[in-house]
Amino acid sequence: MNQPAPLLQVRGLTTQFATEEGLLTAVDNISFSIQSGRTLGLVGESGCGKSVTGYSLMRLVQPPGKIVSGEVLLNGTDLLKLSDKEMRTMRGGKIGMVFQEPMTSLDPLYPVRDPILETLSIHRGLKGAEAKAEAVRLLQQAAIPEAEKRLASYPHQYSGGMRQRILIASVLAGRPQVLIADEPTTALDVTVQAQILALLRQLQQETGTALLLITHNLGVVAENCHDVAVMYAGRIVERAPVRTLFASPRHPYTKGLLQAVPGPSTPPRQPLQAISGSVPSLLRLPSGCRFLSRCPLAQPQCAQTEPALRSAGENHEAACHLVETQER
Ligand SMILES: Nc1ncnc2c1ncn2[C@@H]1O[C@H](COP(=O)(O)OP(=O)(O)O)[C@@H](O)[C@H]1O
Ligand SMILES: [Mg+2]
Repeated sequence: MNQPAPLLQVRGLTTQFATEEGLLTAVDNISFSIQSGRTLGLVGESGCGKSVTGYSLMRLVQPPGKIVSGEVLLNGTDLLKLSDKEMRTMRGGKIGMVFQEPMTSLDPLYPVRDPILETLSIHRGLKGAEAKAEAVRLLQQAAIPEAEKRLASYPHQYSGGMRQRILIASVLAGRPQVLIADEPTTALDVTVQAQILALLRQLQQETGTALLLITHNLGVVAENCHDVAVMYAGRIVERAPVRTLFASPRHPYTKGLLQAVPGPSTPPRQPLQAISGSVPSLLRLPSGCRFLSRCPLAQPQCAQTEPALRSAGENHEAACHLVETQER
């Protein structure tokens, strides 16, 4: 089957932080790609490097953090090789990000229409009445009531959920080809969550956006993603189309994540089976597999060498020494 070249191709991306205790590799040699119009879910527990991955793609990692190697190809252009000025013009129009913390990315000094109108002007050439009408349409799409009046309000006049929706509207205003959404709905109630995710899907259908959806909610993944990458301690440990991943997870970490999700068959009041233990410190990683200390299937070889991602079936990869021997 001949597939078109992926819109976004990430190869060997590595991002480190120089901390007082030493060099911390938050994103460790990860690779993935997303086709136009497709959604890749990036999942994993807190601290696994998901947000740093998003910031790295945007080239917004702040010191003491630094991207130390890799390529981020957008339509074949390596974003990591662009000048700062060139990268600024990519941000917003070609690649955009909805951040996990909405208050930190809306300037409290300006009414919310300002960033939206600015994006519409820079990236879509819309001005005056045309821009204003589009701004109103975007806020309406993001389920902001009384959108026209609301454009003149300041960020602090909105609730957290509304700020997040305004932020999403302002990112969508640029119609980015690649959109990174970092836990975009975590702070929102279930109804609004569904609206926002529907909005993202609609944008994708209209403009063919490639979406990287960062979330720890596997239900969100099941309903919104075509493919999934599971991240653990800075590495991608499993990657597969969404149905394959849910039907036959091959990495013990993925299996653990799936078992921790309440399903229709979970009896009420039965405690969820969370994965015991915690993510190892990225400053002191074990020599073998990073999941070793928590893995119910660990074998002696797992303490010796770190497993690389390997084929675990058609279009399916897992970084586990036992992929061949595990029962499916
Ligand atoms: N500014 C920073 N300085 C030092 N370490 C950082 C910084 N930002 C993130 N990290 C570390 O990078 C790792 C990955 O963080 P993050 O990407 O935010 O995880 P996730 O989004 O998966 O919860 C964590 O161990 C975190 O402590
Ligand atoms: Mg995060």
